[in-house]
Amino acid sequence: MRSEEIRESFLQYFRQRGHRIVESSPLIPQDDPTLLFANAGMNQFKGILLGKEERVFKRAASCQKCLRASGKHNDLEEVGGDGFHHTFFEMLGNWSFGDYYKEEAIGYAWDYSTRILGLPPQRLWVSVYQDDEESYRIWREVIDIPEERIARLGKKENFWMMGELGPCGPCSEIYYDFKPETGEGFNPDSGRFSEIWNLVFIQFSREESGKLSPLPFKSVDTGMGLERVAAVTQGVGSNYETDLFHPLMDWLREISPDGDLYSQRVISDHIRALSFSIAEGVILSNEGRGYVIRRILRRAARYGRLLGLREPFLYKLSSPVVDLMGGVYSELVAKREHIALVIKAEEERFGETLDLGMELFSRVAQRVKGQGGKMVSGQDAFKLYDTYGFPLDLIQVMAKDEGLEVDLEGFSSLMEAQRDKARKAAKFGLGMQVSLGKIPTTKFLGYNTLQAEGKIVWLKRDGESLELALDRTPFYAEQGGQVGDRGEISAPGLKIRVDNTIRRDEATIHLGRLVVGQPREGMEVIAQVDESRRKGMERSHTATHLLQAALRRVLGEHIHQSGSLVEPDRLRFDFTHFKGLNPEEIQAVESLINEKIREDLKVDTYLSPLQEAKAQGAIALFGEKYGEKVRVVRIGDLSLELCGGTHLQSTARIGYFRLDKEEGIAAGVRRIEARVGEKACRLAMEEGELLGRLSQLLKSEPADLEERIRRLLQERAALEKEAQRLRCLSYCQLVEGMVKRATVMNGIKVVREKVEVGSREELLQMGDALRGELGSGVGLLGTVLGDKPALLLLVTRDLVSERGFKAGELIGKVATLMGGRGGGSPHLAQAGGGDVKKLDEVLEGLPSILEGYL
Ligand code: SER
Repeated sequence: MRSEEIRESFLQYFRQRGHRIVESSPLIPQDDPTLLFANAGMNQFKGILLGKEERVFKRAASCQKCLRASGKHNDLEEVGGDGFHHTFFEMLGNWSFGDYYKEEAIGYAWDYSTRILGLPPQRLWVSVYQDDEESYRIWREVIDIPEERIARLGKKENFWMMGELGPCGPCSEIYYDFKPETGEGFNPDSGRFSEIWNLVFIQFSREESGKLSPLPFKSVDTGMGLERVAAVTQGVGSNYETDLFHPLMDWLREISPDGDLYSQRVISDHIRALSFSIAEGVILSNEGRGYVIRRILRRAARYGRLLGLREPFLYKLSSPVVDLMGGVYSELVAKREHIALVIKAEEERFGETLDLGMELFSRVAQRVKGQGGKMVSGQDAFKLYDTYGFPLDLIQVMAKDEGLEVDLEGFSSLMEAQRDKARKAAKFGLGMQVSLGKIPTTKFLGYNTLQAEGKIVWLKRDGESLELALDRTPFYAEQGGQVGDRGEISAPGLKIRVDNTIRRDEATIHLGRLVVGQPREGMEVIAQVDESRRKGMERSHTATHLLQAALRRVLGEHIHQSGSLVEPDRLRFDFTHFKGLNPEEIQAVESLINEKIREDLKVDTYLSPLQEAKAQGAIALFGEKYGEKVRVVRIGDLSLELCGGTHLQSTARIGYFRLDKEEGIAAGVRRIEARVGEKACRLAMEEGELLGRLSQLLKSEPADLEERIRRLLQERAALEKEAQRLRCLSYCQLVEGMVKRATVMNGIKVVREKVEVGSREELLQMGDALRGELGSGVGLLGTVLGDKPALLLLVTRDLVSERGFKAGELIGKVATLMGGRGGGSPHLAQAGGGDVKKLDEVLEGLPSILEGYL
């Protein structure tokens, strides 16, 4: 079965059995601080499984993008060693939230595997958790699997946990036997078996204390690895030979025909992880997600070297990934160039130090082995890490390849010492300590009103500083780029100035200062948002949507927001694009936006089911959580975005849009800064005034200014040329006099003169003129530039070649007479510094210094 058919048949199978088909959530979870990347299909249902989120449906199925390269589920080290482990993979899963349980879950899995996938039952083995009699019984009696093909395993294999915290429970797994003919017993690690499906019976939540608390209802959470199932149904012994991988492997085999399989597998695995995560907007960095991805990339680059690939190559392999997977994951197609560009930039950056680091490492390894050792020292490892940018896990891989280990303790203590230094260097004041006790959820009223009554439900005071939450508020808390509201909270005898508003979980926190009175929990207050500031923000926010729409029209549909800041009448918008905008594009964007402002398009906001909004083409930020209803902001026929921010009612109120600046901020990411409304008008006015002043100054109409300035510049160039000519003339006369006044020592003409010039450049020009006039001799010119002495010494060619004079050497001696320093070639040298009052002494001192050479 082709992988596409597997995906489809799986979802269809469960759809027919009452399951809601849910889209994969993004690889980058937005609202789960315990996770860097989605690691299982159940992630997006965590809230439902824990009983914290409403169960809108009780059965679901999905095909989920997963990345297991960090945290509890980390398969990075396994990749390449066998044909079945990956960093990025797709997980097919079905769920019951307090609906069916073990018997149906096992029944579905068996039926789908044997009947739809057509796997021979005698090739399937299963495992159950050692204490799970119920599952054992179902497999044995209901499904009728012979006893010898059911294994009872311990916690490590058969008790599944999402992470250190969260949903967990016993599980039962289905394995495929690739070599039944060996006739031996069950050994899940032998390579003979591939685990294809994991059925978890979620019953507990693991708390911080380590305790397992029973959940309000029992759920089923299953996960089947698409790549593994593809390998089984396509009759190949490795995931890397399935249709999901072989175009990538073929590409690698073509450019490295003698390359080793291990490296080829690692690279073809890693390029998928890179392409998918970068498509979702991960920016490579030195921490968190960005570092996980950077490590994967650097690892892949190093394996490339092992294949003999010296030039950046990974970025070229990203396009085949897009070709292969783009049909299912359209985000890849939209980001094709961006992905390649980001990868290439990093490959180039790391490529510079990769060879040096590998070379250094091989010397270290030889040394260690030469001394009969087994351990790469913490210091050597840290140098590779710190100076050459080698991630620790890569250093470990390289050590392992040489049969060595890395002294992790030594490495960590150096790392800690460095962090300590950094901490001491960074001076920052700690803000007010905040207690993170549960704050009641706030109802937001600010879409429709800027003033409302509410009750104080949470309060934290530190002198005059206040943090407080109301049960309902019109204040918008900073989110989605839009900054928090300011304003006032008051009651009879009470006044609080609100300087900012932020979100904490589901609560809105007003940050401010007490002006007068004694706030108390339970007090009824009036909350009033600063209206003109909020209006400014709405102008910016609506304009930001227009900007995104305009960029897509002018530059293409690949434009995606990667960040934004919405302030009163000012905005910043970061987006993916692979090159800078040219003046025509900038103008086109600006004109289109202003045109849409003049058209006064209506801005509608409404709630809609996510799928419906997406089907209508709404632009969703990556990371928009799967949820039933989302807020959609529509501007005429131009723009449709999911957005929780506050907006104008129509575009005309933006007034005016001015693009200030366009620049690159990271590989493949551009930033636009713009002003709207009053700030844009003021900018235009200030520019007008400036133009007025310039016109006056240049006595010209604004329309003629450009021509006038061009002419002035031309005139200036002509004048400079003329001045130069005149200077030369006057230098000629001057140097004639100098040569006449020259002293003659042993038949050599020696000129020593104090001159007046405006710059070092002029001094050099005068020196040239003197050289021409002198014919044969030595010339020393002294001058004062600013208030510093400057010397120029020249020796004509004949004296250099015939008498061995060296201007550079001579000037050193001359300059010491005034305490200065100098140097240069044998023909020409300059000096400066020292005591300006000693300039005359220097000129007089030349002959005695020359004596030594004659
Ligand atoms: N959550 C389980 C796993 O990841 C089953 O989907 O294996």
